[in-house]
Amino acid sequence: MCGIIGYVGCEPQSNQVLLDGLKALEYRGYDSAGMAIVVNRDVRVIKTRGKVANLEKKIEDLHLPSSVLGIAHTRWATHGIPNQSNAHPHQHGMVTLVHNGIIENYGELKELLTKQGYVFESETDTEIAAAYLDYVYKKSFDKKQALQEANKAFRGSFAFGIIFADEQDTLYAMRRNSPLIVAVGEHERYIASDVPAILKYTKDYILLDQDEIAVLKKDEVKIYTLDLVERDYEVKTATMDASAIAKDGYEHFMLKEIHEEPRVVKDTMHAYVQDDIDQLVASLPDLRKYQQIHIVSCGSAMYAGMIAKSLIEQAARIRVDVEIASEYRYKHPIYDVPTLVLIVSQSGETADSLAALLLAKSQGVDTMAIVNVIGSSIAREAKYVAYTHAGVEIAVATTKAYCTQVALLSLMALNLAYVHGHVDKKQANAIIQEVQQLPEMLEHMIEDVQYVQAAKIISRHNNVFFLGRGLDYALCMEASLKLKEISYIHSEAYAAGELKHGTISLIEKGTPVIAICTEESLYEKTISNIKEVKARGANVILVVREDFNVGDDYYDYKISVPKVNRLIQGIVSVVPLQLLSYQVANLRGCEIDQPRNLAKSVTVE
Ligand code: M6R
Repeated sequence: MCGIIGYVGCEPQSNQVLLDGLKALEYRGYDSAGMAIVVNRDVRVIKTRGKVANLEKKIEDLHLPSSVLGIAHTRWATHGIPNQSNAHPHQHGMVTLVHNGIIENYGELKELLTKQGYVFESETDTEIAAAYLDYVYKKSFDKKQALQEANKAFRGSFAFGIIFADEQDTLYAMRRNSPLIVAVGEHERYIASDVPAILKYTKDYILLDQDEIAVLKKDEVKIYTLDLVERDYEVKTATMDASAIAKDGYEHFMLKEIHEEPRVVKDTMHAYVQDDIDQLVASLPDLRKYQQIHIVSCGSAMYAGMIAKSLIEQAARIRVDVEIASEYRYKHPIYDVPTLVLIVSQSGETADSLAALLLAKSQGVDTMAIVNVIGSSIAREAKYVAYTHAGVEIAVATTKAYCTQVALLSLMALNLAYVHGHVDKKQANAIIQEVQQLPEMLEHMIEDVQYVQAAKIISRHNNVFFLGRGLDYALCMEASLKLKEISYIHSEAYAAGELKHGTISLIEKGTPVIAICTEESLYEKTISNIKEVKARGANVILVVREDFNVGDDYYDYKISVPKVNRLIQGIVSVVPLQLLSYQVANLRGCEIDQPRNLAKSVTVE
């Protein structure tokens, strides 16, 4: 959700550094881009509609020289359509800035500023922020004080990169509720929305806390709390390198990331258990005392939570509710028994998930985060953290991160089942042995091309249904989201028994219905529901466990998945569904890694 990069150095390298950073950040938003650099003592702003490549071309055409100071931005529109005037940076008087987040009270600030004679060109909240900062700066000409005052006036979320026209060797930054790091080179300093943006230049970075102000010169970084007290900081070193953000010969990041699933699932599981349940018990927090768990997340992370609900409730007999974070944060949740609020998030920055976590904390309820990004806001706020080890995920549609979330949640279910006495040590260790085969199974599923024919069928339609029960229903939700997200085909996921309560009226001759059937205890029920849609002309693609003997009059096309322990069945079965969506989107010529209107990390409400 908007990417920010900033550079201050001793060599005039701004253009290359900023464009490299923007390309690495483009997955966060890609409807317009812009940069500001100092040219002949002027802070020059260059902006374009569309992708970073357009900005690169414009800079080349203008023969713009590089500078020792610059900020840049790739946008995911919130206020105002994607066009050049709404693109960042925004400039007013002494201030030029880029912004990720939303200034919620921009309307009232605009009124105040208009009375002061400010005139606005764009529809954005960001332009108001630039003008407001200019307004307060001109009162005292003290930059930190102006930032402090602006911080107190702004409601909402922001990460800012700022250039003041009268200090052309210094980069300023400030954040609240939107991510921003400061990175440290030899004689260069950077700001960025996340670590991959600076990996080509340095691996050393500093995390900026809530409401902090950073002042960067080529050889120094100073960080101030909102009271303008300078604080010490730790310089961390990123473990990934620049190759993590390369396609490595794959046509799309999504395909590369699906191929990484065996490795990252193995890395995630091995971080918690090798061969013995006691390792698992020791590596996860002790959750014995909680009588209910609220899993609160968004999108695919929530669908991973739905799988976990089914596994935990069945294996450990603990009540689990799965909640949409944007609803949960406003719904006065009931905590009448010892409750754990579990936030699942790849990015660790999703605004609604973070707000849900903060709500639970404010009620004195314990929180746990399952996140992929070390040091992310959700990881920093939660009482307990368990990391997935998916590495950087660039494609907007999550695949490998989702698999690692389900893998870790499955281990959590096993852990809870064991500590609550529903499985003994011998049984638990036998299950651990079984789940160790998962990476190998995933490799096999990735090589398998059964989905190709089904993709051809689906790619010719504009309406698709997914049906399943139990775990398979949770899987349907994820598979359906994946398909619509990248192929723009309208798709609905239904609990198989629910279809006849209304939606079956939409089934007509040829409507593709993807039925998932891997739940042993529900197999016959699902098969009956398949018959119902088949009788109404549906074109049924059946994703079925290979040991279920389903007559060929039940389906038009079949994708078999192996029988594995129920704890990992969802991860094995999701692979052909991910590949199916990928293939459909490819056949339809869609922009797979950067689908329209979307962004990877949703840091606004
Ligand atoms: O970073 P998070 O895991 O919190 O993101 C949650 C959702 O925005 C995310 O899973 C989204 O649904 C994906 N684009 C789906 O592929």
